[in-house]
Amino acid sequence: MRSVPILRAVLLSAQGLTRTYRLGTQMVTGISEASLSLDAGEFAVLAGPSGSGKTTLLNCLGLLDTPDSGTLVFEGRDVSGLSDKERARVRRERLGFVFQNSQLIPVLTAEENVSLALWIREYSDAESKSRAREALAAVGLGGMEDRKPDALSGGQRQRVAVARAIVGKPALILADEPTASLDSETSRKLLDLFDALHTKLGVTFLFSSHDPRMIERAARRIDLLDGKIVSDRIVREAA
Ligand SMILES: Nc1ncnc2c1ncn2[C@@H]1O[C@H](COP(=O)(O)OP(=O)(O)OP(=O)(O)O)[C@@H](O)[C@H]1O
Ligand SMILES: [Mg+2]
Repeated sequence: MRSVPILRAVLLSAQGLTRTYRLGTQMVTGISEASLSLDAGEFAVLAGPSGSGKTTLLNCLGLLDTPDSGTLVFEGRDVSGLSDKERARVRRERLGFVFQNSQLIPVLTAEENVSLALWIREYSDAESKSRAREALAAVGLGGMEDRKPDALSGGQRQRVAVARAIVGKPALILADEPTASLDSETSRKLLDLFDALHTKLGVTFLFSSHDPRMIERAARRIDLLDGKIVSDRIVREAA
């Protein structure tokens, strides 16, 4: 019997993204002519040294920043020319973000930080609460729902940030150096969590890192140097 190839749907396709920053009279390249396509279900890393353009590219792909030129198609829709309001809606409903420093709201509990993402989308209080508790349990923080960020460790705060990113069931999670402020053991556990969410829930991940131990965890490795994608390869079959 012939084996049937696994067909994956293209989730995102970027063509020729260029983003230049103006610094006084100087122009600084953030990314230059970056093109890539990401399928649903991928577990990919953006690797590259400091200043290579990882944050700039993630911000453009996540509609947090607007490139000077290039096109971006997300879930079959050209999102390059959307208004700020429409971009915010795509971010809120279809994307999840994890940043280096969790960016939790200090006066809110873990559960409130997570459910806020749903309140904004006008879910009822009860639905927001139950889904936030479910997401916190999925990241191993059951029982810590009522803690505020300053009563959590750095690793636990990142887990709350992951719960906040997954609670709205996004199509894609973008994580910019999510382990950069964690020690190596906590970093490893956070990547274990990404891996588990990817395998069990089928969440698509694109994260950035310059740590070889984190980079080797991804199934696909995209290397950036001086704002350009210099290599893009599958390093192991995704689960
Ligand atoms: N707001 C800005 N204004 C001017 N230049 C910027 C700005 N943001 C980034 N750059 C420049 O764009 C280039 C890419 O920066 P970027 O932050 O995307 O790199 P990175 O790979 O994320 O680096 P790091 O690993 O240090 O986070 C660098 O040369 C940087 O100095
Ligand atoms: Mg960066």
